[in-house]
Amino acid sequence: MEFMEVISKRRAIRKYKKDPIPDVILQKLFYTLSLAPSGNNRQPYKFLFIKDEKLRREIVQRACHQEFLYDAPVIMVACCEPGRSFDTAIAVDHLVLAATNEGLGTCWVGWFERDVVKEILGIEPHMEVPILIPIGYPDESPSARPRKSLDELIEVI
Ligand SMILES: Cc1cc2nc3c(=O)[nH]c(=O)nc-3n(C[C@H](O)[C@H](O)[C@H](O)COP(=O)(O)O)c2cc1C
Repeated sequence: MEFMEVISKRRAIRKYKKDPIPDVILQKLFYTLSLAPSGNNRQPYKFLFIKDEKLRREIVQRACHQEFLYDAPVIMVACCEPGRSFDTAIAVDHLVLAATNEGLGTCWVGWFERDVVKEILGIEPHMEVPILIPIGYPDESPSARPRKSLDELIEVI
């Protein structure tokens, strides 16, 4: 896809097919994470890709309660050093757009119990877990959600 098409076609997907994601595509997604810029090039993050069904169920049941996450074959859990969720969001957006380009659906999920996710996955207590991203083939094609007008968003001075 052309780049502007990727950006305009991305949607929050909340219905997934259970089809697995081929490893070659996952490898591409991993690579896009590694290309992201970060302050002082510190790369203050780590990304866990949860394929294990038991672990995914546990995350949804105990920490998230958003049932649509069950069907996605992969949940990506972003972890970062304290106060570095800004850098992390940049890397995650690389992944989200690259996934869209591969015909995959994603959804940013920020509403979950972070301490429970950390306990389930054995993440060190000082690390932050800013976001989860389910990844899978979409089983819905939602229309574009409304946005503020450019006049509301942007001021050129
Ligand atoms: C930081 C962040 C956190 C979000 N958390 C959730 C969430 O916990 N659950 C959910 O269903 N969607 C969540 N979303 C998705 C938004 O609801 C969605 O992006 C927004 O409604 C716009 O729709 P679109 O992504 O299809 O353009 C989140 C999005 C962002 C950027």
